[in-house]
Amino acid sequence: MKGLILSGGLGMRLRPLSYAMPKQLVPVANRPVLDYVVENVRRLGVSEIGVVAGDWGPQIAAAMGHERFGAKITYIPQDRPRGLAHCVQVARDFLGQDDFAVWLGDSLLLDGVGEIAAEFTQARPAAQVVVSKVTDPRQFGVAELGPDGSVQRLTEKPGEPRSDLALTGVYFFTPAIHQAVGAIVPSARGELELTDAVQWLLDHGHQVTASRYEGFWQDAGRPADVLACNRRVLAGLAGAIGGQVDGGHIRGQVVVETGATVRRSTLQGPVLIGAGSVVEDSHLGPNVSIGRCCRLAGARLSDSIVLDEAVITAPHLLTGSLIGRGATVGRTSWDAGHRLLLSDHADVTLPTLQAGPRP
Ligand code: TTP
Repeated sequence: MKGLILSGGLGMRLRPLSYAMPKQLVPVANRPVLDYVVENVRRLGVSEIGVVAGDWGPQIAAAMGHERFGAKITYIPQDRPRGLAHCVQVARDFLGQDDFAVWLGDSLLLDGVGEIAAEFTQARPAAQVVVSKVTDPRQFGVAELGPDGSVQRLTEKPGEPRSDLALTGVYFFTPAIHQAVGAIVPSARGELELTDAVQWLLDHGHQVTASRYEGFWQDAGRPADVLACNRRVLAGLAGAIGGQVDGGHIRGQVVVETGATVRRSTLQGPVLIGAGSVVEDSHLGPNVSIGRCCRLAGARLSDSIVLDEAVITAPHLLTGSLIGRGATVGRTSWDAGHRLLLSDHADVTLPTLQAGPRP
């Protein structure tokens, strides 16, 4: 079986970060989202992985390389986001006559789908979709199952869902899917939809099955989703102090990577501090990951991700925040007001002003 990871797309919901990097490279606990996906695909025993990528292809290839976790990675260009089924079309030569798994490059199923893959390998239906129960199915592709568990119908973002089983973004296919992606036409939003290709298989008498995944699933599409992934991965990290820690307090699971320095600070785990970063007189955590070569002085952060080389010296509590590469959050005196230098589609939330005397 081969693996096909879809890493094109525009990532508009993750602006402004996605102006500077593809969303699949946004760090979760200091590793790109895509790295978790490649690791999960590799765990299925897959040794040949194709990564479909658009304009960010060179950056993705530079970050991930051509071999990862012992699997060979082939990069497959997509000229623009023409849909998930279009990705299968552009990967036709890479896929050949092999069965394959498709995995969305921003979809984290951290507990793995090893057993589901084994079911597919044994039964070899034309398609097997991985579904998970959700509370609001209207924002997902939804699978309706028959009494025997076979898929009867797939609907993309239904207004009135007839099932609460959402497509997670992981699929298994035999080569029968190639005929289906060649037969469908673009949807109302102008994309070749994978759900339409799977529906084509159903309409033409092919077997399509669904397997329920019960573990942690989150697509890293919006900032809040990336933070949810970060919380989850940080919670599973074993504490390890490789860097230098002088004074202060450390509580819970805290990782200070080799080459990082922490002075006179409180770290309330889970917290991860990347190599080369310097943290002084700060209060971090819980659920904070700091990238590499950052500088924090007198900072207060919880539930946040700070990318490499950022500098934070403001004393305000930053929470639910994503701070981009090399960004600066500085301090000024009370009367100077806030100075913001924001790129397009940036997102800032400031606290309501309290009545009363100035500090
Ligand atoms: P989406 O999240 O549906 O699309 P997007 O990445 O363009 O994001 P946004 O809606 O915020 O603009 O895509 C799911 C995954 O599939 C994601 O990893 C990108 C990838 N993808 C492709 O590789 N090619 C495509 O043509 C499309 C539509 C998505």
